[in-house]
Amino acid sequence: MYQDPTTTIEHLYSGTHVHKTELVNLLRCEDPYIVELLRRRADSLRRESYGTEVYIRGLIEFTNYCKNNCYYCGIRRDNGNALRYRLTTEDIMSCCHEGYRLGFRTFVLQGGEDGFFNREKICDIVSSIKQKYPDCAVTLSVGEWSKEDYQAFYDAGADRYLLRHETACSEHYSKLHPEGMSLDTRKECLFNLKDIGFQVGSGFMVGSPFQTLDNLAEDILFLGQLNPHMIGIGPFITHKDTPFGDRESGSLELTLKLISILRLRHPKALIPATTALGTIHPNGRELGLKYGANVIMPNLSPASVREKYTLYNNKLSTGEEAAEGLDKLKEAVIKAGYSIVVDVGHAKM
Ligand code: 5AD
Repeated sequence: MYQDPTTTIEHLYSGTHVHKTELVNLLRCEDPYIVELLRRRADSLRRESYGTEVYIRGLIEFTNYCKNNCYYCGIRRDNGNALRYRLTTEDIMSCCHEGYRLGFRTFVLQGGEDGFFNREKICDIVSSIKQKYPDCAVTLSVGEWSKEDYQAFYDAGADRYLLRHETACSEHYSKLHPEGMSLDTRKECLFNLKDIGFQVGSGFMVGSPFQTLDNLAEDILFLGQLNPHMIGIGPFITHKDTPFGDRESGSLELTLKLISILRLRHPKALIPATTALGTIHPNGRELGLKYGANVIMPNLSPASVREKYTLYNNKLSTGEEAAEGLDKLKEAVIKAGYSIVVDVGHAKM
């Protein structure tokens, strides 16, 4: 069944069911007129729910130790060149202090799957932050845990959880991850998190090795099933010290198109213009906003460790990417036609 991409865009815009092959056709289409139509539709839907508001999240990368060995990731266990670090609770609290002063009302604690930070330690950190900053949301992004662990994090006060599914195709998943990791486990975690009551974020990399347009269409359909509050996508970017060290990075254009499609399918979702997008193109993040994104996550980690959290080559960590560069970021966002607000920034769903 062939649908011309204009019709597919109108179907997405009106919430009509869209078939996988239609999505593939749209993803394949590079006609600038069609892409601009897609972008405008996405931008108009984001404006209906969120106006021109952009929410900011202070990202605290608190450990880069990881027991996993994902083939794409620079902090994978077997990367002997990674300079490992862990932040103390005091370090983390001082990041929050600085972040609060700058206007952040969400703190995202992201880290590798580091056994040092067991359930109790994570709960302690979460409850310390919530106690000191009751008007802020705490988002965790610390990988796969049991449902009981997730429940404990939630009970300690965590509001949100980010866990990308990475790819919704099992076969593709097994080409990106070593044996022992599976898409089924990942999905189970995501549904457990939802069940517990977290605002859940998922997502995937665009242009990861072996990925097909068909896979991307499956990612879109899977997110339709999960119906997450947050959707994070960014281009895959090569990291030299990984098994994918000689692979090409994903493209800006395809990532932007996907942001728009996801915005059309999830009008009220929180969609970040990610660091990876800002890394592959100097205006990547502003473009992300124009294609339907409504969140930016500047780095609040202490400057001394930022360069060590290298998920991929040339990862941005200074300038507008850094929390101290917020004034510049605000200017850039205004120039793109939007505005950063001081707000906890929950999803309007
Ligand atoms: N390029 C882009 N994104 C990456 N991530 C990990 N490694 C890379 C890479 N090389 C993303 C994954 C993960 C998130 C924290 O960072 O999607 O879920």
